[in-house]
Amino acid sequence: MPDFDYQLVVIGSGPGGYVAAIRASQLGLKTAIVEKDKTLGGTCLNVGCIPSKALLASSEHLHFARERFAAHGIIANDIKLDLGAMMKRKCEVVNKLTSGVSYLMKKNKIEVVKGLGKLVDANTIEVVGDDGAKKKITAQNIILATGSVPVELPFLKFDGKRIISSDQGIALDKVPKSLLIIGAGAIGLELGSVWARLGAEVTVIEFLPRIAAVGFDAETSKILQRNLEKLGIKFELNTKVQAAKVTDSGVELSGENATGKVSYKADIVLVAVGRKPFTAGVDLDKAGVKLTEKGRIAVNGHLQTNVPNIYAIGDVTDGPMLAHKAHEDGVAAAELIAGKPGHVNYNLVPGVIYTAPEAASVGITEEQAKEQKLDVRVGKFAFTANGRAIANDTTEGFAKIIADAKTDRVLGAHIVAGNASELIAETVLLMEFSGSSEDLARTIHAHPTMSEAVKEAALAVDGRMLSA
Ligand code: FAD
Ligand code: NAI
Repeated sequence: MPDFDYQLVVIGSGPGGYVAAIRASQLGLKTAIVEKDKTLGGTCLNVGCIPSKALLASSEHLHFARERFAAHGIIANDIKLDLGAMMKRKCEVVNKLTSGVSYLMKKNKIEVVKGLGKLVDANTIEVVGDDGAKKKITAQNIILATGSVPVELPFLKFDGKRIISSDQGIALDKVPKSLLIIGAGAIGLELGSVWARLGAEVTVIEFLPRIAAVGFDAETSKILQRNLEKLGIKFELNTKVQAAKVTDSGVELSGENATGKVSYKADIVLVAVGRKPFTAGVDLDKAGVKLTEKGRIAVNGHLQTNVPNIYAIGDVTDGPMLAHKAHEDGVAAAELIAGKPGHVNYNLVPGVIYTAPEAASVGITEEQAKEQKLDVRVGKFAFTANGRAIANDTTEGFAKIIADAKTDRVLGAHIVAGNASELIAETVLLMEFSGSSEDLARTIHAHPTMSEAVKEAALAVDGRMLSA
């Protein structure tokens, strides 16, 4: 066997790539990671999950202070926003985590090679540094973890000022008076919440008939919409934007909905209509790596591309574009390369939208159960009847469990609650072990906790709720 510089080279240091590198190193593989950006951590840590959650937390505190402090007996007059300080804190959170990844690379003896990684052939990568310097490294195995970038609309090219993507939507230096958001998915609803709480007039335009339509059930969409409207966000559903005019003072959009032609004006337009795989500059063709029809890197059940020693993981491959999916892909790919039985259960990837309340979902929705003509029983419990939710002042939402009518196996869970992102975990675990609603209903949950509502929803599958 020829000698290689490394047993594994990972291209891209997002939650897919850096996790793959750590797992490979734990399994004894000599590993390097190539990253073109200044800091490690990819979209998630630099411009995605983490900065958006930092801003969601800060803006939620502001909103809570303004709207609910008085009811809690806290007198704090003249509460003001210091956007600069909020953004500074966000940057500190990001720095802490991206330097944490650098530390993990050192700790695990993973070589970090800075620059754009280009395939020369199936075992050679050329890394081009910012200064143009080139370096070739060879690898027995390669993992492509190059992630994704925002989708642009043909008539709304990003200019970074008036027409922006989430990359700028997390870093505005002043609160826009008016913000139009195209797309009512995770980014539209999360960043819409941030800027509405900070004082912008936010309108979200969506061409589907409901918000959060992908992966979330219809009842979730309804409750989210009601709560976001309370924040002042306006929704224009079933609406197609077709043209845009950028002026010195803002942007004018025109399009149509069921009633005819429509038009909107705003200071800034945030386009949040999805992300697309990023493979520019990797020169996949040099190694003969093939793409799917949708432009993602094609992989088999072992995350292997058509070139057997080249693997691909995360957003650049099929499946939901989520950090935890990329993370699990990374672990599995590293284990498979090391000769271990790596595996990801793609049926159980939870989805969360971090609005207030949060929406979390795993498995099938009620609508999918109907479409697939599955015989199911559904149990639901509202947080208005949960003691902890009342004490915490977070009673919006519900927990819903969908179970097979004959076997009682849980097929889906949907939770809308202040901390739904945490509550969904026990249902994912239950489903991973093919558990039933009876298993969940008979599991002791500490009192008083929001998680008791999840147990009550499981009891409700059999019509025996104890608290409502
Ligand atoms: P990425 O994180 O995109 O990382 C790819 C890396 O590869 C980048 O660092 C890039 O610079 C590098 N790279 C690309 N090409 C090359 C090359 N040729 N050479 C060297 N380096 C290269 N997901 C969640 O699960 N939860 C959330 O709350 C969440 N919030 C989000 C909020 C926003 C605003 C956005 C935009 C996304 C969010 N996501 C969230 C999605 C999440 O960020 C992605 O699913 C995740 O980052 C994908 O990880 P990845 O490793 O596949 O790719
Ligand atoms: P998305 O796919 O979640 O939502 C896009 C929305 O835009 C959909 O509702 C779609 O119907 C709508 N849309 C598409 N084209 C349109 C058009 N021309 N006019 C009007 N509406 C249109 O994509 P989003 O929100 O941009 O997020 C990108 C990726 O990042 C997603 O994969 C998402 O999962 C991930 N992400 C995850 C988060 C989380 O897990 N909390 C947070 C933010 C992003």
